[in-house]
Amino acid sequence: MTRQASHQGLTWFQDARFGMFIHWGLYSIIAKQEWVMHTDRIPVPEYEKLVPQFNPTRFDADAWVRTAAEAGQKYIIVTSRHHDGFSMYDTALSDYKVTNTPFRRDPLRELAEACVRHGIKLGFYVSLLDWHYPAYRFRAESGLAWDDYLGFLHGQVRELCTQYGEVAAVWFDGDWPRSALDPDRAYFLPGGSFEYEKLYAMIHELQPDAVIENNRHAEPIPGEDLQGFEQDLPGENTTGFNETTIYGLPIQVCMTINDHWGWSKDDRNTKSVRRLVHLLAKSASVGGNLLLNVGPTPEGEIPALHQDRLRAVGRWLAQNGDAIYYTRAGVIPPTRECVSTRRNDHHFVHVLDYVSDCVVLAAVPDNVRHARLVASGRALEVDRAGSNFFVSADQDRTTIYVPPDLRDAYDTVIELF
Ligand code: GLC
Repeated sequence: MTRQASHQGLTWFQDARFGMFIHWGLYSIIAKQEWVMHTDRIPVPEYEKLVPQFNPTRFDADAWVRTAAEAGQKYIIVTSRHHDGFSMYDTALSDYKVTNTPFRRDPLRELAEACVRHGIKLGFYVSLLDWHYPAYRFRAESGLAWDDYLGFLHGQVRELCTQYGEVAAVWFDGDWPRSALDPDRAYFLPGGSFEYEKLYAMIHELQPDAVIENNRHAEPIPGEDLQGFEQDLPGENTTGFNETTIYGLPIQVCMTINDHWGWSKDDRNTKSVRRLVHLLAKSASVGGNLLLNVGPTPEGEIPALHQDRLRAVGRWLAQNGDAIYYTRAGVIPPTRECVSTRRNDHHFVHVLDYVSDCVVLAAVPDNVRHARLVASGRALEVDRAGSNFFVSADQDRTTIYVPPDLRDAYDTVIELF
């Protein structure tokens, strides 16, 4: 039986609640997101012409990790190899890799070192499919065996789990039924199995604390630690990507800061700080982490605007982090204005909107007596008797008065205890 990540690893991961996802690769040069090889039907020899162009002279691993730390993010998950098949680290298993560009350096090694310096943990995105590797993409024509590709995939995961220090997460992507999408068969999965049991067992042996997520949008299989939601909050399913069932595993919600994962220069739809804080609070309220993506430029920088938004979230967290880190799903039912998180007997009500001067909640646990603002510690009046003018007879109502001048622009957090 494939086991899960260690209890310690999974607990750490859940307590962390907020991470940075990073999509960076050859595709960043074209600046039309990470699927451009597919969407623009770029043949392999053409796409390979990007290799001598990759030279991100402004890349500074320390600056990326510092931005994550300032945002209040506790881990980063970075693309080691995306669907285009280009390895963003110094793999021994392929020449199609970042150290064979004019840049020559191994950014994942530099990120691993910066993470240690900043107390941030490191995880890797790994694509299961590969639009470049002959035994995957051109298996029929090349006569190569599926085992050739499997050896490469498992071998790369072994490298990532042995050469970069502690790994907090391995995030797989690209195992979805897609033959229908693929008139030219470029993405056709040629009948092989990824041998997950073996793959996951290897990760758990080499990195017992690493959590595993597989972005298959289906029921998690043994060995996976998290259920992922992509561009969606559990229960909302606005994109149609996700399973609507919630399987009871810890959750991780991944989201783009604008509308794309890889750098897309025309994408100006950057989410507001308010939206980002709400996504974080809503994810935490259902027991989920938020893995918020940035797509660095081909010069090697996280766009300044995205850095600013992240730092603003970090400032909110510096005051209100008690209501996010180390919390679990809330037990106080959400309302139109509020969601809640919880740490033991402390309940954190996130007020995301105001329709009146009071916050009115139902089903607040009986032992709650006090209310205070997390940011300032200021005590608030709490009425548990349901005697509020607006909700008179209903005994199950808890009413809290929040003076208008004490409200937070994004999310006012009230601690009930
Ligand atoms: C989607 C995209 C993929 C991206 C992933 C991140 O599956 O197709 O390119 O890496 O989301 O969640």
